[in-house]
Amino acid sequence: MKRLPTALALALLGSGLLQAAAYATDAPSAPPKSEINAAVGTGATFTPPPESSIPNDEFGKMVKLGRDIMLDTPKYAKAYVGNTLSCVNCHTDAGRMAGSSPLWAAYVNYPAYRSKNKKVNTYEERIQGCFMYSQNGKAPPLGSETLVALESYSYWLAKGLPTGEKVAGRGYPEIAEPAQAPDYVRGQKVYDAKCAICHGADGQGQYVGGETVFPPLWGDKSFNWGAGMGSYKNAAKFIYANMPYGMSYSLTPQEAWDVAYFMDAHERPQDPRWQGSVAATRAKFHDTKFSLYGIRVNGKLLGDTGAPKTR
Ligand code: HEC
Ligand code: HEC
Repeated sequence: MKRLPTALALALLGSGLLQAAAYATDAPSAPPKSEINAAVGTGATFTPPPESSIPNDEFGKMVKLGRDIMLDTPKYAKAYVGNTLSCVNCHTDAGRMAGSSPLWAAYVNYPAYRSKNKKVNTYEERIQGCFMYSQNGKAPPLGSETLVALESYSYWLAKGLPTGEKVAGRGYPEIAEPAQAPDYVRGQKVYDAKCAICHGADGQGQYVGGETVFPPLWGDKSFNWGAGMGSYKNAAKFIYANMPYGMSYSLTPQEAWDVAYFMDAHERPQDPRWQGSVAATRAKFHDTKFSLYGIRVNGKLLGDTGAPKTR
């Protein structure tokens, strides 16, 4: 996965077809879409240092490796990745973009207690989580080159930010509650009109020469059921602020909720915390309104795919 939208993405963005679809929902007072990105509306004032200032020494080498892992995770952290996603697919602009869960805002907020695993997590432990669930892989050992590199890169990005303070731009911007309950059929309409052109009609993404050009949104090559993006609230927030790519905030909040629900109502790799049955796994880890795991949608029990595949 490359940093910038590929030539293909640019061509698509330039095509009247996609623009027409995306601009149809424009509020009259909204700034031109070409000038807004996820950072707008987060109140973020921090700018991480430019890549050209990565030092030319041993530490700088580790920072660069961290950046490379962000941009092409299946290549640079192969042993720990079980899908075709890269960190940058969800933490855009190599983890720099405010409103796209930027690494600089994360870095200064660890160690922190997480209810997900009921303990105080170091920054490295937090990243292990994204490998296990978002990357459908396994946790790199603490102190491994992979985690040291990602931590070095994040530390370098966060230069000058105070620790332990609220940082504007962290995570995803809040999204208004949907006026109507999120709905699969409405979500599918949004998907077909505004997402399928890049992510594919079947949600499986697009590849050129084995490299991910547009990442998959569900199915075997996507994030697993344990991932943060599997909460359709998280997904709605991410999508609202970041998608369609290059057209932040062009969807209405309702459209973002509907399409997030639609995306998360599809099958994906089993939750690695599998408890032997869908019901038990739902009861222990998915007992929230925003997880469709263990819920029947269109007659299909989501998550009912048996024990996780061992890697
Ligand atoms: C112009 C092409 C394009 C369109 C249209 C588009 N996306 Fe994306 N999407 C991308 C790219 C490229 C990435 C990866 C971003 C990166 O690596 O910087 C991405 C990433 C994502 C991700 C996170 C990674 C993953 O695979 O889970 C989600 C979720 C997502 N898009 C959902 C959507 C939804 C929903 C829509 C429609 C509302 C949409 N996208 C429209 C290009 C597009
Ligand atoms: C499928 C999308 C996806 C992928 C791929 C992904 N993440 Fe995440 N990541 C998330 C979501 C969702 C969150 C939770 C965001 C939130 O709630 O603010 C998150 C949270 C994080 C956080 C904590 C953020 C904070 O502010 O506390 C870090 C650090 C992180 N990810 C690093 C990584 C790294 C490094 C990789 C690649 C090895 C990666 N992520 C891959 C979706 C993803």
